[in-house]
Amino acid sequence: MIDYTEKIPNNVDLGRDRVLQRALEHWQPAYLSWWNDVGPNESHGYDVYLRTAISVEPDGWAKFGYVKMPEYRWGVFLQPQDPNRQVNFGTNKGQPAWQEVPGEYRSVLRRIIVTQGDTEPASVEQQRMLGLSCPSMYDLRNIFQVNVEEGRHLWAMVYLLHRYFGRDGREEAEALLARRSGDADNPRILGAFNEPTPDWLAFFMFTFFTDRDGKYQLCCLAESGFDPLARTCRFMLTEEAHHMFVGETGVGRIVQRTCDVMKEHKISDPADVRAMGVIDLETMQRYVNFHFSVTIDLYGSDVSSNAANYYTSGLKGRFEETKIGDDHLLADAEYPVSEVIGDKIVTKHVSALTALNERLRDDYIKEVEAGVGRWNRIIEKAGIPFRLRLPHKGFHRAIGNFAGHNISVDGIVMTKEQWERHAPEWLPSAEDYKYVQSLMSGRVVELGKFANWIAPPTRGVNNQPLNFEYVRFN
Ligand SMILES: [Fe+2]
Ligand SMILES: [Fe+2]
Repeated sequence: MIDYTEKIPNNVDLGRDRVLQRALEHWQPAYLSWWNDVGPNESHGYDVYLRTAISVEPDGWAKFGYVKMPEYRWGVFLQPQDPNRQVNFGTNKGQPAWQEVPGEYRSVLRRIIVTQGDTEPASVEQQRMLGLSCPSMYDLRNIFQVNVEEGRHLWAMVYLLHRYFGRDGREEAEALLARRSGDADNPRILGAFNEPTPDWLAFFMFTFFTDRDGKYQLCCLAESGFDPLARTCRFMLTEEAHHMFVGETGVGRIVQRTCDVMKEHKISDPADVRAMGVIDLETMQRYVNFHFSVTIDLYGSDVSSNAANYYTSGLKGRFEETKIGDDHLLADAEYPVSEVIGDKIVTKHVSALTALNERLRDDYIKEVEAGVGRWNRIIEKAGIPFRLRLPHKGFHRAIGNFAGHNISVDGIVMTKEQWERHAPEWLPSAEDYKYVQSLMSGRVVELGKFANWIAPPTRGVNNQPLNFEYVRFN
């Protein structure tokens, strides 16, 4: 169990390391002022029915209760240490897992931790205005839950920086509070985390697609030979699962509501669907195309010597590394990557070590495809012939082998002019955003009530009814 009487709740025996404790207690007010400045808008006085981690054991790890978000107990929680754990891949395979940072990997590891850490506050910043247009109290509570946990993930990375990287680490921890999503001068590190999240459809797409990128990155870091990083990421994954649940069920409920209306009124034309005040499936498809394409860019270049180095050094493994039945060295293995040659997309085989980004992207795409399949079953059940689908991997890419090429959603190599002519069919237009936002002009917060454009969930939070008072506005 975690001791909540401490200023910074933790299971890392923080009280035994006074210097570290003082450094983190110094960072804490800076964090709170960041939360007050760019955390969820107008939310500071609300009592929110939130879960808080109380233990790192898989059963009964969280408790639920009303909390004012600035008083949320952000803490430092690591999965318990396994004394027999080893480095499980790369040239250091078989060594005992590192409890301190190996000198030669110091700057690379710091970079990996900072890049992961930077995404956590970024998403809070991106989502800060959405509380003002929530479709229900249930959804409002869920976005706040996601936000406080992203805040805790920032704490998790900042702990590692302070504990293991000395002065450089402290400076990085401060910089994590200084960058701002979308800021022209001091933006967040990764592209997708500088895109606005303008409405709730975008929020649900983001938590489905982009939080899942977070999951895959964390899974790879949970394999790290640097044991404190692995243990931190394992616990973060427990919380991350809920964020993807919010995304998948959120989109699913919007799909459900639209299908119900289409069926009831026997309509299928997007204009007729919009006239009923719900979101047409065509618009949802354009959101899918956008969020999928910007998210798969986050995996980096298809062929990457950095990815190879991270792996060979034992710093960042593959998804489910220890479940893979190969030599975990990949010295002679190959992996297929795509390349655009002329007007054709060709597959070529490269060293599996340099293709690790691409492999992770492919692992991710498989899981995303299954989720899209579940949305389609809702449409199918309603007897509507429309199906959502993922665009081709090369569509609308800014990083990797497809960057600079004009690939259609079907994977056809086009000229710039051809592509641009089709773009309004494929990506949300200003007019789409305007329409979606017009549905979300105010918040719906009557007990048990849901906005017209979204179906209620099948159950409430923590077995509470749907008409439970998830947020008290005071
Ligand atoms: Fe996170
Ligand atoms: Fe998340």
